[in-house]
Amino acid sequence: MDWLELMRARHSVRRFLDKPLEGAAVEAIQAEIDACNRESGLHIQLILNEPEAFRAEKAHYGSFEGCKNYLALVGPKDRDEAVGYYGQRIVLAAQAAGVNSCWVALTYKKGKAKIEIPAGETNYMVIALGYGKTQGSPRKSKTPEQISDVTDASPDWYRRGLEAVLLAPTAINQQRFRFSLEGDKVRARRLFGPCTKVDLGIAKLHFELGSGRGPDLWAK
Ligand SMILES: Cc1cc2nc3c(=O)[nH]c(=O)nc-3n(C[C@H](O)[C@H](O)[C@H](O)COP(=O)(O)O)c2cc1C
Repeated sequence: MDWLELMRARHSVRRFLDKPLEGAAVEAIQAEIDACNRESGLHIQLILNEPEAFRAEKAHYGSFEGCKNYLALVGPKDRDEAVGYYGQRIVLAAQAAGVNSCWVALTYKKGKAKIEIPAGETNYMVIALGYGKTQGSPRKSKTPEQISDVTDASPDWYRRGLEAVLLAPTAINQQRFRFSLEGDKVRARRLFGPCTKVDLGIAKLHFELGSGRGPDLWAK
């Protein structure tokens, strides 16, 4: 898998065609959900053909059109970073299967969503899924220097990891995190702001995949 190519092709998509997800795409997404839930202890669910959560109100930023499929990111409390990390694994699996997406913390109807939430757990947010009217478009991004200690002397894997981080979606495109190299390990931390724990989980997944190094790269 060329992860950087897949990440470059992914953009948030909020307007969808009236077309159900194909069987092969559903299977690929469900297989990744099952793997993520086993590994993480989260209860991420795929909700298909359910138009209520995204039924359109007034047109405003973040309004959705034609969205009938979504992921519900359910799990125990205080797992925000894991929600980001595993949710984005499923986003990338969906993208590889030709399915567009958008993370949604706010602009959906919580009350109407048909989601199973075990006692003591919570639905953190959802991810809209479907075939986009367009593939979305590139947006403004910070530079590697703005989010890290990168220099001309930094190893290639570190630069590739940072490139992948800058392709990661963040809530309101804030990219509020900081990466630094400690020997051959990397420290990642978030800055203050809404959803930055989830954003950090997404960014750490992108760093692992972009750099080609596994989860043992993180400084303790
Ligand atoms: C944790 C999180 C929450 C988000 N919540 C919303 C939302 O409530 N409504 C919305 O329209 N977009 C939402 N987004 C999408 C971001 O606006 C989008 O990812 C960001 O602007 C970067 O654009 P890109 O995904 O095309 O790279 C969210 C993204 C993340 C990562």
